[in-house]
Amino acid sequence: MLPVIETARLKLRPLRPADGPRMQAYASDFDVARMLSLVPHPYPEGEAAAFIEDMMSAPNTETPWQVFAIDHDGFIGTFGLTSETGFKGGSVDIGYWIGKPWWGRGLMSEALKAMLQLHIFGTLFVSKVTSGMFFDNPASWRLQEKLGFVRVGTSHKYCLARGRAALHWDTELTRDAFERTQVPQ
Ligand SMILES: CC(C)(COP(=O)(O)OP(=O)(O)OC[C@H]1O[C@@H](n2cnc3c(N)ncnc32)[C@H](O)[C@@H]1OP(=O)(O)O)[C@@H](O)C(=O)NCCC(=O)NCCS
Repeated sequence: MLPVIETARLKLRPLRPADGPRMQAYASDFDVARMLSLVPHPYPEGEAAAFIEDMMSAPNTETPWQVFAIDHDGFIGTFGLTSETGFKGGSVDIGYWIGKPWWGRGLMSEALKAMLQLHIFGTLFVSKVTSGMFFDNPASWRLQEKLGFVRVGTSHKYCLARGRAALHWDTELTRDAFERTQVPQ
């Protein structure tokens, strides 16, 4: 079972069927889908409900991925982790999005910091987080940069919504680099 991670304004928790309508509405926005690799546009009717059902029917342990709902008085987006090495002590890749009405309020900065502190480094004890963003996504780069991520290369990554590959910055954050960004208590 996924843990529930709480911040001042957010809860990161397992997905539930009631998240479907809001996920369907937010993920249908091209401005969200075009920054993600695997979200089609147009977003097919029933896609969110099917995704949530898939996540909920998977075994709770030993899946190579974890997907959290980001809840701010209701569903506003998702935060996903995948790992090829096994979560505990290995390396994880992360991806995230929130619906456009919620952009620009510092919510993803809050979610990312908490996930890193409390779950990824704090509980899973991973050694390295990998991620990245398409070249035209300065907001995502900014929020990662603030927490110590660095650009380690570029790639061409297929984007379903754009229907083509786009230039992608590959980024990573090591445990040591993250700890250096944290102010001592
Ligand atoms: C990227 C995304 C997650 C950001 O979420 P958010 O809650 O709006 O982000 P925050 O408000 O926490 O912070 C974003 C930072 O980027 C900055 N920013 C926003 N737009 C920017 C732009 N066009 N250029 C440069 N910086 C920008 C903000 O000022 C803020 O930095 P600051 O704290 O130094 O002021 C959100 O826009 C989103 O879900 N987009 C669509 C999907 C997506 O891009 N997912 C990530 C894929 S890599």
